[in-house]
Amino acid sequence: MGSTLAIDGGTPVVPNGAVKTWPEFTEADREAVLKVFDNNQLHTNAAPFAQELQQKWAEYCGVKHCLVTNGGTGALHMAVASAGVQAGEEVITSAYSYWASAASILHQNAIPIFADVDPLTTTIDPASIEERITEHTTAILPVDIHGMPADMDPIREVAQKHGLLVVSDCCQAHGAAYKGRRVGSLADTSGFSLNRSKNLTGGEGGLVTTDSDEFHQRAEAMLRFQNVTDEEGAVVFSGLGFNYRPHEFINAFVVSQFSRFEALNDARKQMAGYLTGAFAELPGVSGPHTPEYAEPVYFSYLWEARPEELALDIPASKLRKGLCKALAAEGVPAGPAQAKPVPGEGVFQAKLGYGRGCPWKCHDREVTYRIEDYPGALEICASRAFLGGVFHPNGMDLMRLYVDAFSKVLGHHDRVLELAEEE
Ligand SMILES: Cc1ncc(COP(=O)(O)O)c(C=O)c1O
Repeated sequence: MGSTLAIDGGTPVVPNGAVKTWPEFTEADREAVLKVFDNNQLHTNAAPFAQELQQKWAEYCGVKHCLVTNGGTGALHMAVASAGVQAGEEVITSAYSYWASAASILHQNAIPIFADVDPLTTTIDPASIEERITEHTTAILPVDIHGMPADMDPIREVAQKHGLLVVSDCCQAHGAAYKGRRVGSLADTSGFSLNRSKNLTGGEGGLVTTDSDEFHQRAEAMLRFQNVTDEEGAVVFSGLGFNYRPHEFINAFVVSQFSRFEALNDARKQMAGYLTGAFAELPGVSGPHTPEYAEPVYFSYLWEARPEELALDIPASKLRKGLCKALAAEGVPAGPAQAKPVPGEGVFQAKLGYGRGCPWKCHDREVTYRIEDYPGALEICASRAFLGGVFHPNGMDLMRLYVDAFSKVLGHHDRVLELAEEE
């Protein structure tokens, strides 16, 4: 490829301002939010938009109950706690995830135990889960990372065999499906995030879904301080609650967005499908692998640096680093998705929980966190990168420019490797 790389003074492939941000706001969104002033009900799950959102999301996922909350981490904590996980119990989750998945376990003063992931799909490896089960394990918390549903049938099989609950982190996977069933309906209870970046977003917020009346009731009480009103009208606090109540402005915006949510997911799928097809023809990179059972929703589009396809005997992380630098100059937002497996994070290395060694001192089993125990997660952390802007209001024109930019920089891979050496 003859054209000079933008990092060396050439013209960027993607013009400044061509990549639009998420989400787009419509007139209907503004009207919905303004309606909250007329309704004059600013919070609680009894407010009209909260009720509508809960009913719509439960129906969409195909479950009996949904609760809207003030965040995804809170939603996951509610899911973990409402399922009955107790202090000191072990919950097995994915070593490759946003660290809120593990935080939601720690927030229950329970111990996160990490299973490795399948380096191809990026989701938790059911065989690795089974290896980590101990007498203290009570639940499994798989994650539908980057919008890719976890392989739920073998996970449920392991859970059933060992009498464990399954709590699903669907925070990045609104609308994704596993063997035709939507995530949010596949586990005993599930949590979603509605934060700014998510496929369904309110800026902040979360959702908990379950078919269990019992889990639902417990989660519902956690939204407050477990307070109920007695027969004389006095407030009684019957347990530990967290005030994870949602805000009605957010609910109004999410309800409004819900009507176009499927079309927005379809747009992501179309763009992602095009990129993955194009990357298959470009030696040096590839798109995400989609197993037969999965219908992912591409919360983030994850690509892989593949030096072996360029006959380069170098670590994938080196090629990725050079590519990301060169792509950034071409106007393409791209970068590493996760620095290291979650057990490598400082919280787990130092075992920082509730202080005084809790929750790890709740029982005598010594839990250790060594990142070398997670080769699958390490491989993903080293080789994968996100590609920004793969969502509406961006479209196929931008995706074509992205492919041109990848093609241009890969055509200069010697220079890309020099860039990787520079600080
Ligand atoms: C996989 C995963 N789990 C949990 C969360 C927590 O959601 P929130 O940011 O709404 O607390 C996120 C949010 O980024 C996430 O990506």
